[in-house]
This record gives sequence, C-alpha cells and structure tokens, in this order.
Amino acid sequence: MNVCVIGLGYVGLPLAVVLARSGHRVRGVDTDSEVIRSLQSGNFPGLEPTLGFLAGEVTASGALVPSNSTAAADVFVVAVPTPLRRDHRADLSRVAEAMDAIAPCLEPGNLVVIESTVPVGTTERMVAGLLEKRPDLASPEGRALFYSAHCPERVLPGRILEELVGVDRVVGGTDPESTQKAVSFYSGFVKGTLHATDARTAEMCKLVENASRDVSIAFANEVSMLCARMDIDAGELIGLANRHPRVNILEPGPGVGGHCIPVDPWFLVESAPREPSLIRSARKTNERKTEWVLGRIREAASRFENPVIACLGLAYKPNVNDLRESPSLRIARRLCALQTGEILVVEPNIPRLPRALAGFPRCRRSGLEEALKEADVVALLTRHREFEGIEGRIPAGKIFVDPNGTIHDGVEEGKKRS
Ligand SMILES: NC(=O)c1ccc[n+]([C@@H]2O[C@H](COP(=O)([O-])OP(=O)(O)OC[C@H]3O[C@@H](n4cnc5c(N)ncnc54)[C@H](O)[C@@H]3O)[C@@H](O)[C@H]2O)c1
Repeated sequence: MNVCVIGLGYVGLPLAVVLARSGHRVRGVDTDSEVIRSLQSGNFPGLEPTLGFLAGEVTASGALVPSNSTAAADVFVVAVPTPLRRDHRADLSRVAEAMDAIAPCLEPGNLVVIESTVPVGTTERMVAGLLEKRPDLASPEGRALFYSAHCPERVLPGRILEELVGVDRVVGGTDPESTQKAVSFYSGFVKGTLHATDARTAEMCKLVENASRDVSIAFANEVSMLCARMDIDAGELIGLANRHPRVNILEPGPGVGGHCIPVDPWFLVESAPREPSLIRSARKTNERKTEWVLGRIREAASRFENPVIACLGLAYKPNVNDLRESPSLRIARRLCALQTGEILVVEPNIPRLPRALAGFPRCRRSGLEEALKEADVVALLTRHREFEGIEGRIPAGKIFVDPNGTIHDGVEEGKKRS
C-alpha cells in the first residue's frame, strides 16, 4: 500500500520506518525543511537507538521517501504535535494543517488515521472539516466515502521502535467500517493485540492513561510534601507503606515532565470542563511540587553568602536527553532567573547548555567532579545513572537536595556511604 505519514518526529519517523520495513511504500512528510534535508542526506537524528541505521536503509532502498508535501496515498497517518496552549487548551493547528494538506489528495476508500493525541471528538470534527472541503467525498446521505480513525500511540521514548510493534493498541473508527479498515492496516505490523472501539473512546483512552499516571505521581508528591512538613523521611515512609500487599505508592520527584503526562490531562479537562476535579487537582499538585523543590533548593542556598549550586540532570527522566516539559530544567532556569547564585549544570546526555539557560551569565556547564568540588548546594534533579550513589559523596559543610526536595547535610570524611 501507499502510506503517507505526516509529521516525522519522535512518533512519525519510527512509524514511517516500521511501515517501510513491513512492505509499504511510504512517503514521510514534514513541514520542517531541516528534517527533510537531513533525512535526504542520510544524516539521521539520534532520537532512538538503531533508528538512524534503519531509516538509512529504507530511504536508500526508496521504501521511505522524505518530502515536504503530502501526496495521494491509500492511507494517511497524522503524527504532528498537539501542544498545550497558554490557556490549557489543545493547540490543534498542526492537525488542521495536516488535514488541509490531505484534503486535495483524498480519494474514496482511503483511510485517514490520527495518531496525535487529541481531545475527545477531534477525529469526528476533522472528518467533518474534510467533508466541508471535499463535498464530493460524501454519499447522498452525507456519510464520508473515506475511512477515518484514531489510533493513539503508547510508545516510551528510548524504546519506541520495539513498543510501536509490540504494545497493544486501541483502534477507534468514526464508524464500524472505519474501525475494521484501521484494524486491518495496523494488523500488518503490530504484534500486540489490537483492541477495536470507536474514535471517541480511543481518544479518551489515551487521555485517561496519562491522567491516571499523573494522579498516581501527584499522590506520591503530596505524600512527600506532607512528610517534609512532619519531619518524616518520605523515602522510608513510602517504602514501609508499600510493604502492604495492596499499596503501591510511586517514587516522588520534582514534578512531572515529558511530552505527554503534563499535557494530556488538560485535554480531558477541555473535553468536559466541569467534571475533572481530581485530574485538575493532580495536575496542580505536580506543578506545585516543582515550585516546592525550587523553594527547598533556595532555602538550602540561603545558608551561604555567595552560593554555588550544582544542578545534576536537566532531562525530564533518567538516562535520556529529552528536555520537553522537564521540571528539572524549569528548576534550573528559575534558579538562574531568581539570581539564587552561581549555577553549575551537570547534564551528561546533552553536549551544550540548552537555549533556556544559555542567556544567564552566572550559569555554566560543568563536569560532575568539578561541581562536587565547587558547589555549596548539590541538587540532584534527574537520577541519571552517572549520579548513582552521589548522596554519599557530598562533603561535610555542603548541602545535598534530593529530587524529592529533601535536604541532607554533607557527610564527614570517614563516615561516607559507599
Ligand atoms: N513523543 C512521544 O513519546 C509520544 C507518545 C505518544 C503520543 N505522542 C503524540 O504524538 C504526536 C506527535 O508527537 P511527537 O513527539 O512525534 O512530536 P515531534 O515534535 O517530535 O514531531 C512532530 C513533527 O511534525 C512536524 N510537523 C508539524 N506540523 C506539521 C504539518 N502540518 N505537516 C507535517 N509535519 C508537521 C514537525 O516539524 C515535527 O518534525 C503528539 O500529538 C504527541 O502528543 C507522542
């Protein structure tokens, strides 16, 4: 089949590669000419392990053709960004642009799938928009002569190629025939089970999955703030509570980051603004946790006259270079903006200071050993493997703040933990 994948980012490029490897002729479309240029010149982004190599193979063989324009195909898959606007509503402008590009190419019997995460009802609205542009693709009863579905992504950055194929998927069409058509398309390359439903349920399912994670993390974060207030060690407390056979409290941290979990719960709020009190409150708790950890670091820094603060890790989770919505980066940036002191950034996964920090004269990159030597306050923000055991290496007279915001005094020589 001819497949057009629109949007070649974290989701779209691996999908285009997997589709090309499973025998489809794939056109990979992106409006960012840099993305297309680098794919055409064989210079592949190191987003995922082996992705560059596999993308090179399929572009060299012609199975994947990168392009900046949409063209006729049997199947169109949309994987463009759906960021959050300032008013906490979904910015669907890129999905709308993709639909504008698909409209003139669409023919009866084609399948249009939205993989981008969207508020409930978006797929139906996009189909209505396509029919407005192409009334010739409506039956006399007003039904679309093309198929349409939502099939949300569940991939984990760092394991996208495996999970794209191996994880169960929810596939929801705007009508039963569309569901069937989409299930048949995905069964060509997904080895996990395909669960058929309707488009609205599929949209809601993705949002609920991420809201569920957000609520669980918020609970752990709230417990950790309560513990600090009552002078109880949160790590020990959660470890003890989890000895209960039916309790599983997650590890608290400096907030929630990444492309999905801090964003998608707001799409649920947008879909039915009056209902979600728990989901809204969890989001606010996780946002507050970032500010709270920032406050703890500033509190530790205030014990020194000209504090030097080491920020260990900027990525939103351990062992990746992804800074999107990262609470660690936000904390580092706020420390700089509030002129809390001299900031040393240790981020082994990123070769240079990110743009968000580059303009601050008292912020610089540092190696771990130099940071441990120079800093008065060492704030572990992201638990990268390079920082394992760091809490036992902080010299006496310095302060260590863990990702959860707990303040620890440095350890005297001879009493250091291994
Ligand atoms: N990254 C993830 O782990 C993940 C997981 C599940 C779901 N999602 C969802 O998938 C969607 C895509 O996310 P992503 O992480 O791949 O985004 P991304 O930012 O990595 O990539 C999106 C790509 O789309 C391109 N683009 C923007 N507008 C375009 C247009 N009109 N036509 C063609 N290309 C266009 C951009 O240039 C970019 O290269 C989002 O809705 C996201 O919420 C992402």
